[in-house]
Amino acid sequence: MKLFSKSALLLATLCVAIPVMQGCSKNVSSGQLVVGFSQIGSESDWRRAHTKNIQDEARKRGIKLMFSDAQQKQENQIKAIKNFIAQKVDVIILAPVITSGWEPVLREAKAAKIPVILSDRTVDVSDDSLWVTHVGPNLTEEGRMAGEWLAKKMNGKANIVELTGTASSAPARDRKIGFQNAIKNFPGMKIIKSQTGDFKRVTGQQVMEAFIASEGKNIQAVYAHNDDMALGAIQALEAAGIKPGKDVIIVSIDGVKAAFEAMIAGKLNCSVECNPLMGPALFDACEKAVKGIAQPKEMPSKEQCFDQSVAAKLIGSRKY
Ligand code: AHR
Repeated sequence: MKLFSKSALLLATLCVAIPVMQGCSKNVSSGQLVVGFSQIGSESDWRRAHTKNIQDEARKRGIKLMFSDAQQKQENQIKAIKNFIAQKVDVIILAPVITSGWEPVLREAKAAKIPVILSDRTVDVSDDSLWVTHVGPNLTEEGRMAGEWLAKKMNGKANIVELTGTASSAPARDRKIGFQNAIKNFPGMKIIKSQTGDFKRVTGQQVMEAFIASEGKNIQAVYAHNDDMALGAIQALEAAGIKPGKDVIIVSIDGVKAAFEAMIAGKLNCSVECNPLMGPALFDACEKAVKGIAQPKEMPSKEQCFDQSVAAKLIGSRKY
């Protein structure tokens, strides 16, 4: 019988060991981080910029990104997370469409020892250890900035119609609360109608048409929870012969390029920034999470309020 040399035996042992290590759990052992990203959909310019920034950053860092577009459905997000768990990804990034209903699937991820990082929106769960950190905006603060700006612009007096975001989502809830807090000291600032436009341009337009049909010239201001719905509202106002930005003052949230263009055209009055460029902060968080490095629960982005007075000067430097 032929005897193997010591080095041949060592090589044989390694060849068996390496695939076993890869298969048994973490892809980290192969050197490449594997991240599953469950995205909400592509409902707005903001969302598309968010997706692109995360995909670009993953590519730049050599991270393998498994991307899933849930087309606005929580059930699709839950399926995607279960699939990421089955694939033994290293980290899961979740941009949750709504706040509730996440606990069971997040428990599954925790049981599989896969850290979950929240991007953009937040979840309501009883156990905060189910997610590592939230990389995203302070949504209440965005609503507050919009309300403060509008109260000042309207000298504390306006009949406002509100286009809210997706029902039961964190931004729809928090941007409403922030705005209400900002206007509560101005009894003349009244929200006369409020309805969801689902963060979409076409829905924003349809809801605004209904507002115009029922309230007509009674409407003095529009508060839209995102730019896309404000742009839809602008179309509805113009179709009704009302001048957006002049007859009706409009404030929205996101700060996308199309909002800057609308401000320069005098049709939108103000947009509060919601920065979608979270890729770098997200993957820093992923890399720390796999190493078990402790992180703050909140990693908010720095944001500001842009109005018509600065739009022309700043549009060239906008990245989304
Ligand atoms: O959650 C962030 C919001 O979702 C953005 O304001 C909006 O444009 C997007 O669809």
